[in-house]
Formats: sequence, structure tokens, C-alpha cells
Amino acid sequence: MLIRRVTPADLTAVRAVTAAAAYKPQDEVPVEVSLADALRGGGWALPALSLLAENADGEVVGYALGSWGRIGDTRAANISLLGVHPAHRRRGVGGALVHALLGAADALDLPLVVVLGDPELYGRYGFRPSTDFGIVGQEPGWGDAFQVRALTAYDRSIQGEFIYPEPFDHV
Ligand SMILES: CC(C)(COP(=O)(O)OP(=O)(O)OC[C@H]1O[C@@H](n2cnc3c(N)ncnc32)[C@H](O)[C@@H]1OP(=O)(O)O)[C@@H](O)C(=O)NCCC(=O)NCCS
Repeated sequence: MLIRRVTPADLTAVRAVTAAAAYKPQDEVPVEVSLADALRGGGWALPALSLLAENADGEVVGYALGSWGRIGDTRAANISLLGVHPAHRRRGVGGALVHALLGAADALDLPLVVVLGDPELYGRYGFRPSTDFGIVGQEPGWGDAFQVRALTAYDRSIQGEFIYPEPFDHV
């Protein structure tokens, strides 16, 4: 398996795997697809955190997309989308994508990455409840599902509400 950055030539295949891995893949345009399009089209997506997983046959079997957000004046990343084709799950693809995304974010000197997701899934990659860091999500009801992974450039003074990029207002 190869994890690499998404190029413009990959977008059709990445869109297809995004739809296949969506919560409602039967929808004409699953919300994950329209969100990814809006993040990419609006310049919110971080190209270095736009990754795909390719299997030995050259098929795109998974993807991860990170985008910008902010805490006060500090820019920080979020894992906006993560998906693995249902036929290729439970083989380490999702984990490899998360590790690669975190490594890329660290190399960019970003202080932290946030995610809204299952703590059981993301806890194994070093994410902890955001409240451990004095950071809160936009919805109080998110609770421990809103998590933070501190990176090398993390600074304890970065506290407050994490603001997602504008396309999230429409999902
Ligand atoms: C979540 C997802 C990306 C995991 O992909 P994957 O390639 O199966 O992941 P891995 O094989 O690397 O598995 C990582 C571990 O996480 C666990 N895991 C997978 N999905 C999980 C979930 N939703 N909740 C908790 N744990 C989960 C797996 O059991 C595995 O643990 P194990 O190694 O002890 O068996 C994939 O199931 C998926 O695309 N789901 C639909 C979209 C989604 O929910 N994305 C996350 C949104 S925040």
C-alpha cells in the first residue's frame, strides 16, 4: 500500500472512494463528497494533508482530507474527512492515513490537529478530549468526540474555541 498526496489527476478516483465510504453512499451526492468539493474549491483544504491510499493494484482504496481552522488567531488543522472503501477495511489503511496526515501536519509546524470522531478510534493515534487542552468545539454536545492531537509545535497558550472553516456550516 502507498500513501501519497492527492494530485488533480486523482480527483475523480478520490471522489469515487469518498462516495463509496460515505455514511449514505446511495445518495446522489453524499454529504462527504460535497464537503470535500467545497473545502478543496474554497481553498480551505491543506494540499499537504490531502492524502490517498493506493493498493498494490493501483486502486485508490482510501483517503484523508485535512483543512484549516482556527483557535483565536492561531491556525490549526482538522481532519475533515477520512474514509476507506468498505471492501478494504480492517487492513490498516485508515490507520496509515491518520499517521501520515499527522506526520505531514507536524512537518508543517502546525501546533495541533482536531477531529470530531469516535474516541476509541482516534485515541490510538494520540488524540485526547479537547477539554484536556482548554480547547472547545463549536457544539457543546460533541463532548469527548471532539479531540485534539498535540504536535511538536504545540503551545499550552493555544486555548479557546476551534472554529471550523465555512463549508462546515452547511453540513
Ligand atoms: C473509520 C475507517 C476510516 C477505518 O478504516 P480502516 O482501514 O478499517 O481502519 P484500520 O484497519 O486502520 O483500523 C483501525 C482500527 O480502528 C478500529 N475502527 C475502525 N472503525 C472504527 C470506528 N468507527 N470506531 C472505533 N474503532 C474503529 C478498527 O477496528 C481497527 O482496530 P483493530 O486494529 O484493533 O482492529 C473506515 O471504517 C471508514 O471509512 N468508515 C466510514 C467513514 C468514517 O467513519 N470515517 C471516520 C469519520 S471521523
